[in-house]
Amino acid sequence: MVADWRSDEFYGQRREELASRVGPRRFAHSLGVAETAAKLARRYGADERAARVAGLLHDWDKGYDDPGILARADELGMELTDELAAMPRVLHGLTAAVALGRQFPELPPEVLTAVERHTLGEVDMGDLDMILYIADALEPGRKGKKVEKLRARVDELELRELFLEVYAYWVQLIMERRHPVYSRTTEIWNSYMPEQEVYHAEANPDPIPYGRP
Ligand SMILES: [Fe+2]
Ligand SMILES: [Fe+2]
Repeated sequence: MVADWRSDEFYGQRREELASRVGPRRFAHSLGVAETAAKLARRYGADERAARVAGLLHDWDKGYDDPGILARADELGMELTDELAAMPRVLHGLTAAVALGRQFPELPPEVLTAVERHTLGEVDMGDLDMILYIADALEPGRKGKKVEKLRARVDELELRELFLEVYAYWVQLIMERRHPVYSRTTEIWNSYMPEQEVYHAEANPDPIPYGRP
């Protein structure tokens, strides 16, 4: 019988399994992401349970070391570009989405997609994708002044604008930590620019509207 992925039983079982897949710090982080994602879903009118489940599962494969995650991708039959094969730290989202989808086919595609996109982002992120991405960066275990500032803006910003704030922060952090930047980052960022212009226009209405005499 297929378990109902919305049930507390499903959640409790995955939670227990996760505890044996990752270390205690990562486990606490995952619970923090699950709760933060659920709160964001409530705030932005998305599916709260889907957000909580995606939060719990997003780092399902984070327990693998670099050679381990490459072997995992291979085992799952995933074909990695040379670039991604050289960035093993970001692969856990991609492998987790594939592995979870096979092990728990009852999980809805939007949960798997959010898990898949939580490390690198993507163009056209859906609400749940953005919620998980934000929750991963802002859960209570994440410390720092910038994180505090972003957290304080949750009530004030629309989801897409908050996502862009967090994405910009995260890319900056990657550079500061001297990690490689994914080659599609610029493409992903640029894909959100028209929306960003709309937000700016809403925040700062043009005093001389075009097209008026
Ligand atoms: Fe992750
Ligand atoms: Fe995470």
